Amino acid sequence: MLNQKDILKALESVKDPSAGQDIVSAGMVSGMQINADGQVLFMIEVDPKAGPEMEPLRQQAESAVAKLKDVQKVTAVLTAEKAAPEKAPANDRSSDPHGMGKNPRLELPIKKIIAVASGKGGVGKSTVAAAIAKKLAKNSQLKVGLLDADIYGPSQPKLMGLEGHKPEFTDEKKIIPPVSYGVKTMSIGFMVDEAKALIWRGPMVQTAVYQLFRDVQWADEGEELDVLIVDMPPGTGDAQLTLAQKVPVTGAIIVSTPQDIALADARKAYEMFKTTNVPILGIIENMSTHVCTNCGHEEHIFGHGGARAEAEKLGVPFLGEIPLSADIRAKADGGEPFEIDETIITALTNSIK
Ligand SMILES: Nc1ncnc2c1ncn2[C@@H]1O[C@H](COP(=O)(O)OP(=O)(O)OP(=O)(O)O)[C@@H](O)[C@H]1O
Ligand SMILES: [Mg+2]
Repeated sequence: MLNQKDILKALESVKDPSAGQDIVSAGMVSGMQINADGQVLFMIEVDPKAGPEMEPLRQQAESAVAKLKDVQKVTAVLTAEKAAPEKAPANDRSSDPHGMGKNPRLELPIKKIIAVASGKGGVGKSTVAAAIAKKLAKNSQLKVGLLDADIYGPSQPKLMGLEGHKPEFTDEKKIIPPVSYGVKTMSIGFMVDEAKALIWRGPMVQTAVYQLFRDVQWADEGEELDVLIVDMPPGTGDAQLTLAQKVPVTGAIIVSTPQDIALADARKAYEMFKTTNVPILGIIENMSTHVCTNCGHEEHIFGHGGARAEAEKLGVPFLGEIPLSADIRAKADGGEPFEIDETIITALTNSIK
């Protein structure tokens, strides 16, 4: 019969050069699951900085376990979580493998934290979040940050013209966010090579998002960031949960396109934030009208006005609409956030006063 002891024994043959010992003694193995049909899954916790270089180690660990009798399939997953301080046996952490429940609610040197969310993917959250951050920094001379909480598909390195940036650290090992368009920007995309993206499971998403908030030098000692814009992944999953439970978020903006289906998803996002007690600051309609680049004629390709009506129905502010425009798209592709309408910024600023 396959058991955890034999698997750990096999894993003792895998040495981590940076730890100078094997991965079991170094406390890097956790969350082991053994299925009756011979499938084995476990995590190897690695330093977030070293993540991509650990791929050979991950493969060694898989082959070491694959050699055991009765093993049909092995999946070893790298997680960019630091080893938990307590060394509980692997099986004791299965329900909360990263000890997320024990992580305190964060206290951050940030005055207002605004999440940009949506129920449906691809409605323009990231594009809008970048534009809001840029405009806030430029107009009001506020100290502004932008956190890309989309760890599956980070967009901000590209949108903020920061592709290829490699993280730098303070003496206290905090990440120094690069500044682009006056905005301190942080994204998992700076840490992890997209081609070698880690596989993220629910608890890992939660810790990764938590660390993105916590481990960044958002402000110098004794200072505060005025506003942090958080670009959320689509939907109502683990990242949203972390935000609601662990981050002192001021409120959320919901971005929606005017189609019924997007609006139905926007309503889901609204409900989720409501049940987790995150205030809804308002709704923005994106890809609203289409202005013809040749003649200036306006067309309502996806319909129009649906988000305003929805906001009224839900009793939340309507913050404004953004046209579907080739220019916005081209700017995004070129690493420059578009110029968002002043009225949206004013409506947003009013909603957080
Ligand atoms: N108003 C707009 N006009 C034209 N193109 C737009 C507009 N808003 C967003 N786009 C384009 O739509 C695509 C999706 O935008 P974006 O990545 O911001 O969406 P998202 O909601 O963040 O997606 P995801 O859910 O995958 O994170 C991008 O190619 C972007 O350039
Ligand atoms: Mg996005």
